[in-house]
Amino acid sequence: MIGVARLNNLHDCVRTVLEDGVPGDFIETGVWRGGACIFMRAALEAYGDRQRTVWVADSFEGLPRPGKDYPADIASGFDFYKFNDVLGVSLEQVKSNFKRYGLLDSRVQFLKGWFCDTLPGAPVQRLAILRLDGDMYGSTIEALESLFPKVSIGGFIIVDDYVAIPECKRAVTDYRAKHNITDTIIEIDRDGAYWRKS
Ligand SMILES: C[S@@+](CC[C@H](N)C(=O)[O-])C[C@H]1O[C@@H](n2cnc3c(N)ncnc32)[C@H](O)[C@@H]1O
Repeated sequence: MIGVARLNNLHDCVRTVLEDGVPGDFIETGVWRGGACIFMRAALEAYGDRQRTVWVADSFEGLPRPGKDYPADIASGFDFYKFNDVLGVSLEQVKSNFKRYGLLDSRVQFLKGWFCDTLPGAPVQRLAILRLDGDMYGSTIEALESLFPKVSIGGFIIVDDYVAIPECKRAVTDYRAKHNITDTIIEIDRDGAYWRKS
């Protein structure tokens, strides 16, 4: 789903954290069929990394209905959940997609469930890459709240929908303002953007 420019960005981020020795695992929150996570696991293999884990976080049943906790998602009118017949891909299917590439092993860990339930207590210690692709305000800010503090200095935060979806951008803006984060955000293409944690 993410296209060549965002795959190239992901490749650059992986290569940079490996070259610079930035400690931590990689995670994507919002994986759909698993493409970006499979790519990250494959890149670790290709570069000979034997340590890091790729965390794969999703409901595996699509996006949540907007709730009262996040009025921005109600006001947006996107109603992504109405497309869950396409956006909801089962855990079994995603595992099978990893398997097709010979990349399903113990260094791929799955966090199944809504982010509000799985991310706050997730057994993730430290991250070098945090890739957010949950589309909605709530899904974006929940992932930032639980996982941004675990990103190492020199690690990357990639936001797949920052340019394309105003509610996603707003979640990032609110989180950064609350925590006085001023690192420069760089746009990748007409959808995604990223920054490096200083
Ligand atoms: C646009 S798709 C992700 C595309 C994917 N990154 C790729 O590389 O193809 C959005 C995904 O986010 C998941 N998602 C969104 N909000 C969620 C939430 N609050 N909890 C769990 N999963 C969520 C959906 O199930 C869906 O798989």
